[in-house]
Amino acid sequence: MRPKRLDDISWDAFKNLPLEEKSPYFKQKNGMPYHVLLAQQFDRETLDHVCRMATRIRRIAKSKDGMAFLMGQLPHKRAMLDFSQPSSRTFLSFYAACQILGLKVGEVRDPTTSSEMKGESREDSVRTFSSYFDLIIMRTPTQGFAEKMAWILSNAGRPVPIINAGSGKDQHPTQALLDIYTLERSFERSGGIEGKNVVFVGDLLRGRTVRSLASLLTLYPGVKQFFVAPDELQIGQDVLDQLSAAGVDYEVTNDFESVIPEADAIYMTRIQDEWDKEGESHQVDISDFYFTADHLKLLKYSAILMHPLPRRKEIDPAVDSDPRAMYWRQVRNGMWIRVALISAIFGRDDEILDYYTRNLR
Ligand code: CP
Repeated sequence: MRPKRLDDISWDAFKNLPLEEKSPYFKQKNGMPYHVLLAQQFDRETLDHVCRMATRIRRIAKSKDGMAFLMGQLPHKRAMLDFSQPSSRTFLSFYAACQILGLKVGEVRDPTTSSEMKGESREDSVRTFSSYFDLIIMRTPTQGFAEKMAWILSNAGRPVPIINAGSGKDQHPTQALLDIYTLERSFERSGGIEGKNVVFVGDLLRGRTVRSLASLLTLYPGVKQFFVAPDELQIGQDVLDQLSAAGVDYEVTNDFESVIPEADAIYMTRIQDEWDKEGESHQVDISDFYFTADHLKLLKYSAILMHPLPRRKEIDPAVDSDPRAMYWRQVRNGMWIRVALISAIFGRDDEILDYYTRNLR
């Protein structure tokens, strides 16, 4: 069946579709993503495929010949990194992922260096990038902007894939992919992600990583989600409604210490005060939502501690050397999952799998 196309639907009609009805517009004929815009666009089969590819690519990249093979995959393609919000990990891991596949990379990180300073709209800026690049990787403070650009470029006759590298307070789909990959690797010898208790802690109201991961976890049967935050920063009702609709068990609490012993994974987050209007989140006492070295005694031996980073005081650096601390592995996993994702977008999976089978199995 012909995939749904963004040039077959008006922007207003598309914008108002429920999230799950948008995903067919982002897929290629083979079911792999073309655009990566929402966590909700992923099904379990695609997640499993991208995680499997990431592991194979990681193994291929260990040798000089393997790395040379990977770098020969996309030397004819160019990627634009358009980051109008600060980033270390997402920017650099995408940059490195492009290098691993041989893509050439351009970047705008500071909009004051672009013609937006002369009054050009964001839309025209991104349309300009699409004239020179084959992939746009975009971080933006504006919810829905990456989707809007995907629609505009499709209707302007030069569609290029767009990857949402973090938008507004709502979505960070590729962070959620690397989080799933980290969970999967951590639990590969203990029955997988299914049936685990995942505890989110911190600023859940404005944490786009939490919102995206909470959505992907609905694809793993038996996962119970806990949301631990001060009342002012508790998870949004829209996320809870999504969990209820998916039949997912969840608990909302502000008693962090009582939940730690139940956790298989704890996902800490920082206060997202960049969204404050007048520093209001600094009035909230968040010290009860820090993970300290003493908390390690309450944590299961088999549990893991995660954080999308950057961190402030949410995790004591004394915890970093504990084998359950997984946040620096998340950073590295981010690069491999992004290589896998870009390979899938450009249809390089079969060749990479074939190389793996011939050389590493
Ligand atoms: N996790 C994450 O998005 O980090 P950066 O803001 O440094 O990219």
